[in-house]
Amino acid sequence: MQQDNRKPRRILITGGAGFIGSNFVHHWCNSYQGDRVVVLDALTYAGNKANLASLENNSDLRFVQGDICDRTLIDHLLESENIDTVAHLAAESHVDRSIIGPGAFVQTNMVGTFTLLEAFRQRWNKREQPNDRFLHVSTDEVYGSLEANDPAFTETTPYTPNSPYSASKAGSDHLARAYFHTYGMPTMITNCSNNYGPYHFPEKLIPLMCINILLGKPLPVYGDGQNIRDWLYVEDHCRALDVVIHQGQPGETYNVGGNNEVKNIDLVEQLCSLMDELAPDLPITPAKNLITFVKDRAGHDRRYAIDASKIKRELGWTPQETVAAGLRHTVEWYLANRDWWQPLLSDEYKNYYDQVYAEPNLS
Ligand code: NAD
Ligand code: TYD
Repeated sequence: MQQDNRKPRRILITGGAGFIGSNFVHHWCNSYQGDRVVVLDALTYAGNKANLASLENNSDLRFVQGDICDRTLIDHLLESENIDTVAHLAAESHVDRSIIGPGAFVQTNMVGTFTLLEAFRQRWNKREQPNDRFLHVSTDEVYGSLEANDPAFTETTPYTPNSPYSASKAGSDHLARAYFHTYGMPTMITNCSNNYGPYHFPEKLIPLMCINILLGKPLPVYGDGQNIRDWLYVEDHCRALDVVIHQGQPGETYNVGGNNEVKNIDLVEQLCSLMDELAPDLPITPAKNLITFVKDRAGHDRRYAIDASKIKRELGWTPQETVAAGLRHTVEWYLANRDWWQPLLSDEYKNYYDQVYAEPNLS
């Protein structure tokens, strides 16, 4: 969103070393040179400073390792950096991990969001400025699961979260909403569908399949593989967050989605075909021979679909990437960036993998 008369912002991006957060930091630094960008990230297993390596010499950018539950640190950053905008992306984000250990999800997603909102409110009470914004980045999973013929989620679909992950995100959405209605604080919420693209941590469906194909490992498809997700290329999501910060109305929620509903099994087969075409010397070809149906995820939501007509109508945002092109870029990126993903297959990751994919033929 380039505007000639735009006032520079001083933005705090939480979770900026994660998948979407780091793509958003790149997007912001490329789009708005001269803005102050402060990244706050705890560098959990999902955070990776290498995601920001190419911005190392950017003097507008400051990286701070820290926890969003640390109120003293947040107060200090908001004051000392004179922050006017928060883009809040830090979260525990993986459904399978929330099934194994929900506590971290309640702590970061709910207590952490509360801490940020309170710190921002205290400062906003003292120095209310027209440009101030607090964007809370959330997920379509708060709306629950759709049947095959249900209409897509709109901003007024009732919340029905089914996993500890989506329940903790729903709780944080309600807090962000309440801070506008009770205090008038300029919060906005985005609820987005499944993202994919560069810097996606290996545990999620698309990178997991890409990496397992390259390693010749089984491709674990949960249940019957007929679950549907609405996939959005991560750069399209970043453009949506940008447009909401600049043009969104305080107190409003915007759904963001790719209008790209795909069954998991079809997606995995597309990835297999792309790898067969693009990757030299695969251990197993055709890659689809690696597909293995495994025990379903507990409480697995059947279908997500986003109606993104509000953000299109009110703010002019539409996705630009097709799934075919976006998946091709993504496969090419994982092929070209082994040095990025290989170190992420750590002992911690292997332990996690063994817990989730416990069947002996899968490791
Ligand atoms: P991610 O797991 O890749 O990254 C999360 C980042 O937050 C990591 O860098 C991690 O170190 C950091 N973090 C975690 N706990 C923290 C804490 N207590 N304090 C500070 N930093 C902490 O997640 P993602 O996929 O990039 O998701 C970003 C946001 O977007 C999340 O809020 C998620 O709910 C939302 N979202 C994700 C998707 C998706 O498909 N990935 C879709 C819609 C919405
Ligand atoms: P995921 O990337 O974990 O995103 P989410 O659960 O937040 O939608 O999973 C996307 C879909 O892929 C979901 O329906 C679960 C399924 N899935 C598998 O079939 N196998 C896997 O190994 C993983 C990680 C996911």
